[in-house]
Amino acid sequence: MSLTETSKDPANLTKQAEGKTKQIFAIKGFHDHVVIRSKNDLTAFNAARKDELEGKSKIANSTTCNVFSYLQAIGLPTHFETLLSDTEFIAKRCTMIPIEWVARRVATGSFLKRNPGVAEGYRFNDVKIETFFKDDANNDPQWTDEQIISAKMKFAGLKIGPAEIKLMKKLTKTIFRVLEKGWALSECSLIDMKVEFGVTSGGQVVLADVIDNDSWRVWPHNDKRLQLDKQTYRDLKEVTTEGLELVIKNYEKVMNLTAKFTKTPSTRVVIFMGSASDVAFCQKIATEAKRLGVDVVLRVSSAHKTTSETLSMVSEYEDGGVPTVVIAVAGRSNGLGPVIAGHSTLPVINCPPPSEQLAEDVWSSLRMPSGIGCSTLLDPKEAALAAAKILATHDHMVFGRVLTTQLQHYMTIYTADHTLNKAH
Ligand SMILES: Nc1ncnc2c1ncn2[C@@H]1O[C@H](COP(=O)(O)OP(=O)(O)OP(=O)(O)O)[C@@H](O)[C@H]1O
Ligand SMILES: [Mg+2]
Repeated sequence: MSLTETSKDPANLTKQAEGKTKQIFAIKGFHDHVVIRSKNDLTAFNAARKDELEGKSKIANSTTCNVFSYLQAIGLPTHFETLLSDTEFIAKRCTMIPIEWVARRVATGSFLKRNPGVAEGYRFNDVKIETFFKDDANNDPQWTDEQIISAKMKFAGLKIGPAEIKLMKKLTKTIFRVLEKGWALSECSLIDMKVEFGVTSGGQVVLADVIDNDSWRVWPHNDKRLQLDKQTYRDLKEVTTEGLELVIKNYEKVMNLTAKFTKTPSTRVVIFMGSASDVAFCQKIATEAKRLGVDVVLRVSSAHKTTSETLSMVSEYEDGGVPTVVIAVAGRSNGLGPVIAGHSTLPVINCPPPSEQLAEDVWSSLRMPSGIGCSTLLDPKEAALAAAKILATHDHMVFGRVLTTQLQHYMTIYTADHTLNKAH
């Protein structure tokens, strides 16, 4: 039986842990996975305030699955496998790292108490990261990097040292920036956020636990008075039925808005090639553009031999409302890119194919009359990435993939260094 089928039968689940807001179940025969079930409980002030809210477990589970599906689609490492039921999802079993990683765009709440003099609303241009040791008895004290290193923590064989701390801070920052873009779709500001990481049985650091409406502050139209998050519950002077109704309404709204995170607008790269003989090279651009979440169209047309057809084809992609970048691939004399650029408002990137005469030919892409405004890149993957960066302002998924690509370079070097050091 598959992991999902097995998990659907309650007889195969054994409760392993229970916290304030969820329960963790082991799955018979699938040691590397767990089922995470949300509870209806809502707690604040370290559980000094506690209420049961009918429907909260379903809303929390949906919200978490919306958020994790989005992060996963973008390529971020998470423990999320799949939604299982209204109140449950399947995750990779993790040994949890007992640190809360907090990311802030705007100063508010406890930050102001710990940093007197900073005005509420101060904007951290570079997302601020803080770390807190998970220790309920001591109210989760803030920890410095040195304190985390000195604790000499080790989980599933992985030592938490300076490189791991740096990696998790980078992941936290990336997750924040990606979620911030998701919220911007609904004209809401993500103010701050808390996440936790775990180590899988394979020794990989992944985003774990949950991200739901208890994990962040969200202000519609950047207006604190409109806040949608758990702060509404903390701010109730006393807990009344009307108060709880407002809380659950906000939680429901957040669930519906986070469902939009994975709805991607379409953006497009149109690759014009001067001759069908360039198609293999164009496919390299296409593959990378698709990986970055951009749709691809391939066209053959020659600016020298079929000029009016070329311009008529370009007009198919103008003014249609789909954000578009043109990449022009032409060997020898590149009339294609500059001619398109001279007649279109679309951004044009020349990407001449490799050739023994490239050193001479490339001048036709670099030197051109005034008033043209196209650019040139020689590497097909670089051309696709440059196009994706232009389109990222129109598409949060593309933005996320570009950001994750940069993080992946960092992670590749981190893993290589780690493996080499373990081998010696
Ligand atoms: N992928 C995972 N594998 C194993 N345990 C997990 C995973 N994701 C989350 N957990 C753990 O599930 C437990 C229950 O979650 P809950 O958030 O309700 O606990 P809590 O009362 O808030 O306590 P804590 O302070 O540990 O978060 C937590 O200890 C959490 O670390
Ligand atoms: Mg918790």
